[in-house]
Amino acid sequence: MPIANEAMQWSGSLSQIPKVQILNRVLLGNPTHFSIEEAINVHMEDESGELNSVDSSLAMEQWNNLKKAYRDIGTEVHELSPVPGLPDYCFTANPSLVLPLPDGNRIVWLSKMAHSSRFKEVEHHASFFRSQNLPLKEFPETVDRFEGCGDGILHPGRFLIHAGTGSRSSIRGWETLSAEYPDLQILHYTLQDSRFYHLDTALAPLNENTALFVPSAFDPSGQELLASAFENLIPIPIEEALHFAGNAHCPDGKHVLLQKGNPKIESILLRKGFHPIPLETSEFRKSGGSVFCLKMAW
Ligand code: ARG
Repeated sequence: MPIANEAMQWSGSLSQIPKVQILNRVLLGNPTHFSIEEAINVHMEDESGELNSVDSSLAMEQWNNLKKAYRDIGTEVHELSPVPGLPDYCFTANPSLVLPLPDGNRIVWLSKMAHSSRFKEVEHHASFFRSQNLPLKEFPETVDRFEGCGDGILHPGRFLIHAGTGSRSSIRGWETLSAEYPDLQILHYTLQDSRFYHLDTALAPLNENTALFVPSAFDPSGQELLASAFENLIPIPIEEALHFAGNAHCPDGKHVLLQKGNPKIESILLRKGFHPIPLETSEFRKSGGSVFCLKMAW
């Protein structure tokens, strides 16, 4: 299926897209060696240009709370054990993308990280998924950068992926997937705002028809494209978007794990029948990530 983008509206209908499973396990990365060493996104330094500094024991406590929150709602949690020298290793959303296929299988695409400080994270994802007997795929040389589920947001239950391009992923990876899976529908968005540098900072699907999104991260036609895929598209007010409300994860169509202190989005979620689970991720936000970034669904 051709990649639909902002210039070419998607006129398809969800009911015609093949069904796939919703991935209900998460992989977390132990943050023992989490640190901020280089500003690779705009959130990593303060107004005076100083690198943010992480409180390691607080980071560990917040990460343990995230792990517990998943377990409490019945999500199966797996962990990558600590590895020194990889400051962003806890952000497991990026080094791979697990794609559920219409035949019931899953396949793991290994990322091409945009920054060298993150290159080696990919091999840890590869060995984990190998140990789980999932098939692994690598992109060809021509794909310069591709950051997994940071820019590839699966549409819940359908063989459709929302694909971002910008500083972290180029169109080439999406072209590869499009050629590899003729039945996969890819909707492509060009990220507009450096504060929302991965698509997952600006879009959080909750179920097949509902998603949270950050309007200013998309151009007007990107917003229309989103509206063609989600009947209920909930705009996040900018102050809550900057507090990472859009980096939420809904693993089961009901519970929504999200950064604490986003009262407008929380009350909308409650009104729509979702169950928000607010969590503090302050230490990880200093590095430009929150709940969604801290897990790989598989
Ligand atoms: N410091 C990390 C980076 O810039 C944060 C990654 C956040 N992950 C995400 N999926 N948005 O790469």
